[in-house]
Amino acid sequence: MVREQIISWLVENVKPSRVEHILRVEQMAQELALLHKLSREKAGQAGLMHDLAKYFPANKLLDMAFTAALDVDEVMTRNPHLLHADVSAIVARNTFGIEDEEVLRAIANHTLGRPEMSPLCCIVFLADSLEPGRGNTPELEALRQISTENLHQAVWKVCDYSLKFLVSSHHPIHPRTVETRNWFLQKWKSLHSQSL
Ligand SMILES: [Fe+2]
Ligand SMILES: [Fe+2]
Repeated sequence: MVREQIISWLVENVKPSRVEHILRVEQMAQELALLHKLSREKAGQAGLMHDLAKYFPANKLLDMAFTAALDVDEVMTRNPHLLHADVSAIVARNTFGIEDEEVLRAIANHTLGRPEMSPLCCIVFLADSLEPGRGNTPELEALRQISTENLHQAVWKVCDYSLKFLVSSHHPIHPRTVETRNWFLQKWKSLHSQSL
């Protein structure tokens, strides 16, 4: 029932192609949850609600972020679209009554990631970048394979993939993407070297 309400809301508030992306993220997050022994229900909820605020205008994103006392830095002020992840979590709480902090954090961290983020956050972050609609290049296929095997390595490499795209397409880079990348790279290295 709640899922149907959310989908009805999405149909009213986001483009049809984005609804399809969202449903693919929901499905991939559920698949990754199963593989990594996480809650399939929470993964699906976060996947379904990760882009609720995708098309909110810049002033609405900024207003809602300030009202919620979010930490809005200079890069976000200049690029309010970066706030759609945090604001989607606010909509999930306020409109759909989601109170599960794990689910809300997975929604809020889906774009920039976050150092030390939870495995549930990792799979929603990965599903957003790697769902089948993103393409089928060898690089994406390799990242999908890694996402089934090792979350630390997958988050690090998806950050690298995003950073390469942002550099080549002349988009601004939020420092948290770099911080996320460094943290997960370091984590993978420390665990990897212990097993050698
Ligand atoms: Fe998003
Ligand atoms: Fe998305």
